[in-house]
Amino acid sequence: MTRDRRPVVIDADPGIDDVLAILYLTGLPDVEIVGLTTVHGNVPAGTGARNALKAFEIAGAPDVPVVVGIDRPLVHQAATAEDVHGTDGLGDAGVLPSLRRPSAGSGPLQLLQWARERPGEITLLAIGPLTNVAVAQLLEPKLPSLFRELVIMGGAVWAPGNVTPHAEFNTWHDPEAARVVLEAPWNMTLVGLDVTARTRLEGAALAELEGSPKPVARFASAILQGYLNESERESGVRAAFMHDPLASAIMMDPRLADFRDTPLLVELAEPERGRTRPEASGGGPAVHVAVDVDGPRFIARYLSAVLR
Ligand code: RIB
Ligand code: CA
Repeated sequence: MTRDRRPVVIDADPGIDDVLAILYLTGLPDVEIVGLTTVHGNVPAGTGARNALKAFEIAGAPDVPVVVGIDRPLVHQAATAEDVHGTDGLGDAGVLPSLRRPSAGSGPLQLLQWARERPGEITLLAIGPLTNVAVAQLLEPKLPSLFRELVIMGGAVWAPGNVTPHAEFNTWHDPEAARVVLEAPWNMTLVGLDVTARTRLEGAALAELEGSPKPVARFASAILQGYLNESERESGVRAAFMHDPLASAIMMDPRLADFRDTPLLVELAEPERGRTRPEASGGGPAVHVAVDVDGPRFIARYLSAVLR
C-alpha cells in the first residue's frame, strides 16, 4: 500500500452512475481502489461485474480485482432497472465488453477478506443495495470495526423517494439488508436523495464532458446519452443525476456536505418498504446523514477528475 493513498473498497451495481463513480475515483491521485464487489440492483451482479471491468480498463486501472456478489435481495425477488440503465447496464451505447474476467470468489466473503487483511484501514463505499454488506456483517459481526468507515449511497430521510414516494432505489431493493446494516455500529455516512436528488450534471458542465476528446470523458458521455435523451423527453432538459459519484466525492471530502446525525429505522412492510425513517427513541447508532451539499463545487471536482 502506498502511504499517501486512501484505501477504498466499492460495493456496487454498475449501472451508469456507478460507472461514473468508478471513473471519478480512478481519476484521483489520493485513492487506492483495493477492489470492487458487485451486487444485484440496476442490473444482475454478473452484468455489473462486466461493466466494472470495462470501466477500470477505460480508466487505466485494469488490475483492480472485481468479484461478483449476491444476485438477489435477502427476501424479495430482484427487480433490475435495465429500462433506466440499458440492457447492458451501460446505456446500450455499443460498448464492447472487457476481455478481463471477474476474480474468483463471492462478494460478501471478499469484503470480509479485504477487511481482515487491513483491519481498520479501508473505507467501504456501498453504492448499490446492501445485500453483500449485510451478509458479510452477519458472517462477521465485528465487520463494522474492521472497516475504517462505511459510506452509503442510499435512502431518503427527509426527502421523497425515487422508487415509491417513501423509498430510494437501493434501500427499497433490499430493505432487510439495509435494516441489518443501519442498526449495526458502523462509522456510517448516508448520502441519500436528500442531497443527490438536487445534484445533476447538466448545462455547461455536461457540454464540457460531451465536448472532451479524452477517452474517459468520451466513455462517460457515451454511456450517458440514452439516459440524457430520456431526461429530455420527460422534462425537456438533458440532465443526469449523479447519485453514486456524489457519494464518492463526499466520502473523499465531507466538507462538500452538511450532516445531521440520527439513528435510522428501515421500514420493511408496504407501502413504506425501504423508507429510511429518523428514529428518535434510542434505536440503532447515529448515522451521519448528508442534508445539504455544495453541488457546483462537486460538479467542478467531478469534471476535473474525469477530463484527465
Ligand atoms: O437511487 C439511486 C441509486 O440506485 C444509485 O446507486 C443507482 O445506481 C441505483 O443503484
Ligand atoms: Ca448504484
